[in-house]
Amino acid sequence: MPINEKFELVESIDSQVETLMEEHKARRSHWYFHDIVPWERGESFKDKPWDVSQCTISENARTSLVLNLLTEDNLPYYHALIEKNMPDTSAFQKWNHLWTAEEGQHAIGIRSYLLTSRNCDPYELEDDRMATMTNGYQPTFDDPTEIFAYTATQELATRVSHRNAGKITDDPAAYELMKNIAADENHHFIFYKGVMQAMLDQSPSTVLDGIYRTFANFEMPGVSMPNFLRRSIEVAKAGVYNLRIHHDRVLLPLIRDWKIADLVDLKPRAAELQEKIMELPAQVMAKAERFEKRVGLSYS
Ligand SMILES: [Fe+2]
Ligand SMILES: [Fe+2]
Repeated sequence: MPINEKFELVESIDSQVETLMEEHKARRSHWYFHDIVPWERGESFKDKPWDVSQCTISENARTSLVLNLLTEDNLPYYHALIEKNMPDTSAFQKWNHLWTAEEGQHAIGIRSYLLTSRNCDPYELEDDRMATMTNGYQPTFDDPTEIFAYTATQELATRVSHRNAGKITDDPAAYELMKNIAADENHHFIFYKGVMQAMLDQSPSTVLDGIYRTFANFEMPGVSMPNFLRRSIEVAKAGVYNLRIHHDRVLLPLIRDWKIADLVDLKPRAAELQEKIMELPAQVMAKAERFEKRVGLSYS
């Protein structure tokens, strides 16, 4: 599929993007992280240096919040992705400003909670932030429609991950904070899901390879952070985010919502991709079962 056709498709849905953005603004009401962060627990790190014994939430919960925070810290790279791939006049540029502003509160809120409640080593957290952001996150998308297959998938995945991370803290402040952040991710997800739907309605054969590549190679954008593998295994074992959750709460709902199985009149290559997409959940579940066996998790 020529790349020009893909750009033309993205540009052709501009008025729908404007509408989706207006619907997003009407649906979401802004919340304020300072209302939730437990400032009354805060103490000076100069007078009272941090020590692990001061932590009030489990190690799994701490790892989950730090992993989610470092992922949010890379926001400048996510902003750049849309900024540099969309035309200057595109409605996506306006959306990118709004979305970035909303996303900005997520890292501020989680960092404020972790420092105020002393649930992280403040030096380690800052060193990890520096390392993560210095490594950066620069995915290369050759296909502009793939960006929105990825952002829809990513927003849904972070919604689930933030919500579950909040649940395992057993701390009402962290629970409330992560619930609000997850609600934001859900609004973003609805927007990006709508963007893909608009493109699917117009030309399903143009976008199916982007959806297939996203689903087949999906990984969270936190790979540049130190100890990503160790952290993500811990988060997987804690039931915050893992392949089974990805299968049940992300992959299947997206395939269902976009009605991938029901698409008709596809070009031969797109029909092939449709079939391959429908085979993916079983492959992910088989991988999930292998992982669970390896780490001793049981869901039966
Ligand atoms: Fe976020
Ligand atoms: Fe988001």
